[in-house]
Amino acid sequence: MLLGVNIDHIAVLREARKVADPDPLDALGICKRAGADQITIHLREDRRHMQDMDAKHIIELSSLPVNLECAISAEMIDIACDLRPHRVTLVPEKREEVTTEGGLAVTGEQAKLKEAIQRLQNEEIEVSLFIDPTLETVNASLDLGVEWIEFHTGKYANIYAMLYTNLSKTHHSIQELELSRKSLKKMLNDELSNLHQLASEAKKLNLRVAAGHGLNMQNVKEIVKIESIEELNIGQSIIARSVYTGLEQAIIDMKDLLMR
Ligand code: PXP
Repeated sequence: MLLGVNIDHIAVLREARKVADPDPLDALGICKRAGADQITIHLREDRRHMQDMDAKHIIELSSLPVNLECAISAEMIDIACDLRPHRVTLVPEKREEVTTEGGLAVTGEQAKLKEAIQRLQNEEIEVSLFIDPTLETVNASLDLGVEWIEFHTGKYANIYAMLYTNLSKTHHSIQELELSRKSLKKMLNDELSNLHQLASEAKKLNLRVAAGHGLNMQNVKEIVKIESIEELNIGQSIIARSVYTGLEQAIIDMKDLLMR
């Protein structure tokens, strides 16, 4: 399974102090050495992490394909067409969110999406849509003529965290916890079979399938079993772990889990 390493969080650290380091550009050689298959970056409209210069230099200098995530605004599509990365993943953006909290409203913004996709494809840029895993979004993506879809795995990751980490357990009595564990397990299994089913449906429709958001060394193991998912884009957990292991080792360890 292919691994796209999302290096935004290097820029998050830099922008926390508004200084020059760490520079995301320095990650390119390390990602390549460690066996990453793709570099993923998100140029947000508010430029809170990656800056225009980062995107420009990363796309120019990376020997790995670059997947540029951006919103569907005219400004961002102009920039993407200008920079011509290997792939553009269109994502929803809200100023107030901490991270990309859900998939694109593919059925609500069809005209705008169509135009953006057409412009990108005219520049021979592959297009992917970051979508919530539903049959409706898969079918709408197919209608829009994109090459790739990327399933937002945030719901899966949240349920997993509620079940297997200490998050949100502190205020429950043991009995409530047992009950909620049972329903959480069911929710987790339902979400996994939903991902299995939709990924294989999408593959049959000739869509290439990626997934990402909130994946880490624990919860990724079940996702790797989904044959029809070709690629995962993982950022936060790799960069977080790299504080202790170094970036190269953090990528090597994640890539090992993706071997199947
Ligand atoms: N894929 C897409 C489209 C994203 O926007 C992001 C960041 O939210 C990721 C993957 C990586 O998510 P994370 O940083 O939680 O691994």
